[in-house]
Amino acid sequence: MEKNIALLRGDGIGPEIVDSAVKVLEVVAEKFGHTFNFMPYLIGGAAIDETGNPLPQETIDGCLAADSVLLGAVGGPKWDTMPANLRPEKGLLGIRAAMGLYTNLRPAKLYPALKDECPLRADIVAQGFDLMMVRELTGGIYFGERGRREGKHGPEAYDTEAYSVMEVERIARAAFESARKRRKNVISIDKANVLETSRLWRETIHRIAEEYPDVTCTDMLVDNAAMQLVRRPSQFDVVVTSNMFGDILSDEASQITGSIGMLPSASLGATNRGLYEPIHGSAPDIAGQNKANPIATILSAAMMLRYAFDMMDEADCIEKAVDAVLNDGIRTADIVGSSGIAPIGCVEMTEEVIKRL
Ligand code: IPM
Ligand code: MG
Repeated sequence: MEKNIALLRGDGIGPEIVDSAVKVLEVVAEKFGHTFNFMPYLIGGAAIDETGNPLPQETIDGCLAADSVLLGAVGGPKWDTMPANLRPEKGLLGIRAAMGLYTNLRPAKLYPALKDECPLRADIVAQGFDLMMVRELTGGIYFGERGRREGKHGPEAYDTEAYSVMEVERIARAAFESARKRRKNVISIDKANVLETSRLWRETIHRIAEEYPDVTCTDMLVDNAAMQLVRRPSQFDVVVTSNMFGDILSDEASQITGSIGMLPSASLGATNRGLYEPIHGSAPDIAGQNKANPIATILSAAMMLRYAFDMMDEADCIEKAVDAVLNDGIRTADIVGSSGIAPIGCVEMTEEVIKRL
């Protein structure tokens, strides 16, 4: 097969980790007889520097025309003082919206080889965990009306959380479909004891659940969920939640895997094109020093092969190579922990993965 992949390298460590994933994809293409054409476009701070806009129209057009999109990360201290509509993050939120990517899949599992990096108690680690966070990505407080105004106590700011039945229905279906391919259990996370949007969320999830009698579905309040994630993560299979709760809980979930440098994600819409990115940020403090862990981006590329291109064997091949690297005790700095292993760089880690493809 021949596929066109748009590359959004972005800022900080973004270029290094995207280049790692590209090298891996090139080897996979050769091994399985595919052709991948890579087309780079600007996003985030890099786009602001060159064009004054975090999401140039050319980038949107290029991503919409491509078969899939691979993204590194955006943002950095250099652009932190820019006005809200000219921040690198605006580029990321904008491309998610422009491509209609309302489903964000964020798998988090404990790799046996990394169990010593898990900050949880040994008896909890022994149970292991493997969960799929399904985060709503184009609605809620991220996209609601916001602003400044004069309030009762002087100047104030506001952000609005709004969810339509349609938005909850489609993310619910994505979660139930995902559960069908896993352990058939969905936990929906909300704050229905306080928020009206959460009450609509809960009602709608329950209605869609009836279409999936083979999947069990329960509710959990978000504060309790934050606690349960560190108390007994093994109870979670598929988690479905709103944009903001999903943002927060997915960072928590990543930390109990040992390193945020390990977690990939897929953002999907009505088509299977999708955008694939690590869940971590641009890590400006280690940018350009060959210290970044490329695994989250390499695993994001594997998700792309699986979801966007239906290339199951190719995706398995990458995931197995990553498992093998970890089992062989090869580590970047973020995952050495107290093991005493000498860490290797981003380029070297990429070579080690490629050796095992
Ligand atoms: C993420 C990030 C983004 C988000 C930021 C960079 C806008 O934290 O992908 O989780 O909040 O969605
Ligand atoms: Mg986040």
